Amino acid sequence: RLDMEGALTARDRVGIQDFVLLDETTEVAVISNLKKRFSKDLIYTYIGTLIVSVNPYKDLDIYSKKQMDVYMGVNFFELPPHIYALADNAYHTMLTEFNNHFILISGESGAGKTEASKKILQYYAVSCPSTTLMNTVRDKMLMSNPVLEAFGNAKTLKNDNSSRFGKYMDIQFDSQGDAVGGHILNYLLEKSRVVHQNHGERNFHVFYQLVEGGSDDLLTQLGLERDVQHYYYLTQGECAIVSSINDKNDWKSVKNALQVIEFDETNTNHLFRVVASVLHLGNVHFDPDSKGHALLKNNTELNWVSDLLGVDANSLKEGLTFRKIEAKTEQVLSPFTIDHAIYVRDALAKAIYGQTFTWLVNRINESMENKCQFWSYKDSSRKTVIGLLDIYGFEVFYVNSFEQFCINYCNEKLQQLFIQLTLKAEQEEYEAEGIEWEPVQFFNNKIICDLVEEKHRGIISILDEECLRPGDATDLTFLERLEEKMGNHPHFVTHKLADKMTRKTLERGDFRLLHYAGEVTYCVVGKLDKNNDLLYRNITNLVCQSKNTIVRECFSAVDTTNKRRPETVATQFKNSLQKLTEMLMAKEAWYIRCLKSNESKQPGQFDEALIRHQVKYLGLMEHLRVRRAGFAYRRKYEDFLKRYKPLCPATWPHWRGIPADGVELLVQHLGYLPDEYKMGRTKIFIRHPRTLYATEDAYEKCKHDLASKLQAKYKGYKVKGEFKKQKEAATKIETCWRGAQARKEKENLNCILFTCFRFIKAYINRGEAKSTDNSEYLAFVRQSYLNRLKNNLPKTVLDKTTWLTPPAVLTEASEILRKLHYRLMVRKYVRGIPPQKKAQLQMKVVTSAIFKGKKESYPPSIAQPFLDTRISEQEINIRVLSMIRNEQIKYSVPVIKYDRNGFKPRPRQLILTKTAAHLVEEAKIKRRVSYSSLKGISVSNLSDGIIVIHITCEDPKQKGDLIIQCDHLYEFLTKLSIIANKQDAIKVVQGSIKLEIQSGKESAVDFTTGQEAMVYKAKNGHLMVVATRTKTR
Ligand SMILES: Nc1ncnc2c1ncn2[C@@H]1O[C@H](COP(=O)(O)OP(=O)(O)OP(=O)(O)O)[C@@H](O)[C@H]1O
Ligand SMILES: [Mg+2]
Repeated sequence: RLDMEGALTARDRVGIQDFVLLDETTEVAVISNLKKRFSKDLIYTYIGTLIVSVNPYKDLDIYSKKQMDVYMGVNFFELPPHIYALADNAYHTMLTEFNNHFILISGESGAGKTEASKKILQYYAVSCPSTTLMNTVRDKMLMSNPVLEAFGNAKTLKNDNSSRFGKYMDIQFDSQGDAVGGHILNYLLEKSRVVHQNHGERNFHVFYQLVEGGSDDLLTQLGLERDVQHYYYLTQGECAIVSSINDKNDWKSVKNALQVIEFDETNTNHLFRVVASVLHLGNVHFDPDSKGHALLKNNTELNWVSDLLGVDANSLKEGLTFRKIEAKTEQVLSPFTIDHAIYVRDALAKAIYGQTFTWLVNRINESMENKCQFWSYKDSSRKTVIGLLDIYGFEVFYVNSFEQFCINYCNEKLQQLFIQLTLKAEQEEYEAEGIEWEPVQFFNNKIICDLVEEKHRGIISILDEECLRPGDATDLTFLERLEEKMGNHPHFVTHKLADKMTRKTLERGDFRLLHYAGEVTYCVVGKLDKNNDLLYRNITNLVCQSKNTIVRECFSAVDTTNKRRPETVATQFKNSLQKLTEMLMAKEAWYIRCLKSNESKQPGQFDEALIRHQVKYLGLMEHLRVRRAGFAYRRKYEDFLKRYKPLCPATWPHWRGIPADGVELLVQHLGYLPDEYKMGRTKIFIRHPRTLYATEDAYEKCKHDLASKLQAKYKGYKVKGEFKKQKEAATKIETCWRGAQARKEKENLNCILFTCFRFIKAYINRGEAKSTDNSEYLAFVRQSYLNRLKNNLPKTVLDKTTWLTPPAVLTEASEILRKLHYRLMVRKYVRGIPPQKKAQLQMKVVTSAIFKGKKESYPPSIAQPFLDTRISEQEINIRVLSMIRNEQIKYSVPVIKYDRNGFKPRPRQLILTKTAAHLVEEAKIKRRVSYSSLKGISVSNLSDGIIVIHITCEDPKQKGDLIIQCDHLYEFLTKLSIIANKQDAIKVVQGSIKLEIQSGKESAVDFTTGQEAMVYKAKNGHLMVVATRTKTR
């Protein structure tokens, strides 16, 4: 736990926070450091985990709740030294290690021990977890203080609130750290104060509080006057009223505290009666009778005492003025001298008060007792304690009596305890770390303890012997016995034993002890009495029957039947100290050493001489030496490395190996000499603080360099970090986006698959009637077919092949559509035809009606457009024209006319007018055939151009039928049929056409096919026409 970082860092600020790190362990250096810090109101300084506290005599703002919070759970050395750090560390160590602790607070009267213990209690009251139950325990612990202070504290020259008893208080914690109970042990109440106070001092506070603060009723009940000056026991110091003390207010606090610690009315009442009885007892005065024996001055006070204590007044009177001597068969009363009576009176007062104080402590203990065993969920056995020992420090007065002897003996014992615990701890640590133990130069005060307490040989034994010895034992015979027995002891000296020089400083009735802290001279006067502390038996018997329950309880514990003398005060004290040390030995120790800064209780005054005296008598230098035994500083390898690794390139920034190796490397790099340090199992031990300081200085310097490096690194790191963050964010977004995409794709795919399945199913069912399974598919098929159809419609009316094959469902519709489309195309086509073409087509329709499928050369002729005429009017002879002018020429075409006899071909013009066809040769109209005489027209079914025009022939002279050949057969015949309105007259004939050459004279034209087209007169007299075969398409 020796973490000294805080101390190191702060060392240059105001002195050194930890004396262990002082380079020189001299008293001068220690005091100068204390002074430096005190001047800046830094009243706490460490020696390791020990706290040295200097009483500032002024309120410092360092005990607030905020301050408590600062120290809660923080490592001991991380913050400036404070009593809270110690309290907190003890508490947390107790919790984690589950062991018991004690905090020893020592120092001179007025140095601040009681204040320190209260601050620790307050710290625990605030910082420990609490429940309602715990709160009452806590309140009781806190409230025990005002009660005990009222009964056990007094104004002295040194301290207005001086504790006149030693106090050890256990605070019990359960395993969760809740305060569950408390227990107080009290030591050596300064009872003599009840009956006597030095000048400038007072009796215990409670007397003044009662007289000043008690209600009128209460005072009347107790027979008291509201005037402290009225009471002998309150006025010897002549300072009953002190400005710094408000007895009235304190009385209220005490009454309130008594309620908190559950004092019932009877107990409270009896307690006040005891207090009052002591005051009355003090006012019992004696007058000498004629023989010089003590006589009571008046009975009033005695009656009050008997009333308050509930004892018989006469017996009390007897007890105060006579001694009962028990002879063999009878009791003899021996009267007291006045001095003796006063001694007995005072002894009674001291005894009652002293016993009541012990009773009070017991009652408080009962009230603070750990009640948790009644709570089923808590295991009362699992508790740990922190003990607070607020005990007198070394007292060195001008005259030192029995009390100082006891107190200083107690300090010797505590020093011995410290040595044993500290050395033991140190030795154990060395052993655990495998480091050879080096003997430490310090003074072991065991020799003085033995001098005081050794059985049969020690001062206490000799004192007891003298007390018990029959015969006239006096203080001086005791001194002689001491001289006899201790003659050669190096720590004991008397006037008789001393050398010349020393003798001058010693009175005859003195003995001097060389305590570990320094020498103290004790006066033997009164020692025997004080050690005996006797109360005569008749008095004891009397108070045993007291009607005051407190008094009765207190004294019935004292075994009055036992003839053996009770243990002397010194032996009792020795035994209780023995028990205390045994108890403390089993606990882990923490120390607070309180120093007073000046005798006049003034803030800001640092009395160096006084401080030096205390440093000496508190054994601070001894403590420091033991603490620094061998090595001033030790630290776990990990921690040492963590702090100093920047100092060595091999360990910076990271040491990956075993920490001990890293530390070895580090210290070698730093140039530590082999004698300056030792490597333990887990810790490095450094002998001198200066070695550490050099390291620390190097570290400080290096820190600055490192800071700038780190800053740069950090900036880079930050930027990098941001970039990384952005990158991560981008990746995240990307991932999310990809995820979303993938999900979408998957959805699509699912959708596709689903659709596919549906389509497949629908496809399978496509032939079925429309159902939920196939309706959609069918709709799709329909739409898709129609869409495709739209783009693949036939472009021309003639295109009969282009038409998409419809799906089954659309067969009917497709057919309708197809027809509609064709009609539409036809309509469009028809609408688009120009008038001439229309006329032409109309003619072609006529042609078609006549010839289609009948004549071989018809199909190829279809494509041949019809012309208006084949011979223009200019080509017709003007005479002919003039002849037929009034008939209107409709169409003219060159033809070959075959003679009826001989079938000679003759080229002619055939001119169609409105009424007749004219066969013209040059200027002659060779023949005129009026349409009315047109009997019929015959053509062959072959591809020849022969036309036979049948003409009605009534007159035999009249020419017969006309045979012509025309290259534009279809055009000519169509025009003719239209003009002459003779469509039905045209016949397509197979084989041969009969004709009338003359009326009654017939012939024929025979048709045949052959290689070459020919027309000739056949042997049978017929006209033979050979046509070539037209290739059929
Ligand atoms: N930390 C402190 N801050 C301010 N004043 C203090 C402090 N400690 C002590 N004092 C002052 O010193 C006085 C004496 O302190 P305290 O009663 O604690 O001394 P003590 O060591 O218990 O003495 P004794 O041995 O006589 O009981 C207190 O009443 C208070 O005025
Ligand atoms: Mg005190």
